[in-house]
Amino acid sequence: MEDSSLLCLLFLISLLSCTTNQARLTVSPSSSQFFEGDFVSLSCEEADSSAGWTLRRNTSKQQRTQCGVRWGEAADSSCSISYVFTLDSGVYWCESREGAISNMVNLTVSGGSVILQSPVLPVMEGDAVTLLCERKTTPSNLPAAFYKDGVFIRKQPTGHMTIQHVSRSDEGLYKCNISGHGESPSSWITVTGDTLTCRPTTTSPLPPDSSSLYFVIKLLFYLVMFCVCFISTLLMVSLYQHRPTGNDLRASIPPTQPDQGLDEEFDDIITDVTTEHHF
Ligand SMILES: *[C@@H]1O[C@H](CO)[C@@H](O)[C@H](O)[C@H]1NC(C)=O
Ligand SMILES: *[C@@H]1O[C@H](CO)[C@@H](O)[C@H](O)[C@H]1NC(C)=O
Ligand SMILES: *[C@@H]1O[C@H](CO)[C@@H](O)[C@H](O)[C@H]1NC(C)=O
Repeated sequence: MEDSSLLCLLFLISLLSCTTNQARLTVSPSSSQFFEGDFVSLSCEEADSSAGWTLRRNTSKQQRTQCGVRWGEAADSSCSISYVFTLDSGVYWCESREGAISNMVNLTVSGGSVILQSPVLPVMEGDAVTLLCERKTTPSNLPAAFYKDGVFIRKQPTGHMTIQHVSRSDEGLYKCNISGHGESPSSWITVTGDTLTCRPTTTSPLPPDSSSLYFVIKLLFYLVMFCVCFISTLLMVSLYQHRPTGNDLRASIPPTQPDQGLDEEFDDIITDVTTEHHF
């Protein structure tokens, strides 16, 4: 019983450290690919804003460069790029002063006229994911062909492809092609089945209030965990309060019985039964 309450405490502490040491990088608009000239906003959503999170990136030309220095416009813990170029393609992450890092995202800026709008953050197993093959000038719904790991999947008349109930096997490198307009770059789609870790997970594209939904879910999770810990602590306290009476009873019988751990409660029951028989 004491062990379980200790585990509870450790669990709560680890949850707390999860929230305080982690930031979650989100991208708006929520896509892994952009056209040259698009506006992109990156934001570090963190529990502990005093940790001083900043955005960094690796591109083919430069490594670990910070937002606001050679690229982007920094504001608090977010960063915006008002006009992206193909050279802005790369891996982006949030980094705290202490060197803690967030999830990473791959962004690809296409100099061509077709992009694949695919989830930029890992997708939850079982969710539905919609990929959109988009043409630059007019976002018309043109027929598009979709490919995974270089293999043709299917042609969609409106350029949207929905994968229902995503599973691990759907993870891979996706691209699309609009006949007569060109092919999109490839983007990796990650599928995760892990809900209760610190790693942020969400599906995408999502409505703009997705981050508040994420926090509501997280809050509910903490509430449930708190209740579980609270109830088990109450149980433990009540067991402690029952113990002295059991020991008093035992004092009246010969002290030959084992006196350790979980056996104690069993002994108490036997004691009660034997005392009743005496009367
Ligand atoms: C970024 O580049 C640095 C230096 O080359 C490397 O150590 C680091 O692993 C890279 N980070 C990512 C996320 O690719
Ligand atoms: C980013 O892209 C590289 C190369 O395609 C891949 O190895 C890496 O896993 C990707 N990272 C993420 C976070 O998707
Ligand atoms: C793009 O798709 C069309 C059919 O929709 C096909 O004829 C063409 O060869 C494809 N282009 C490439 C580069 O795969």
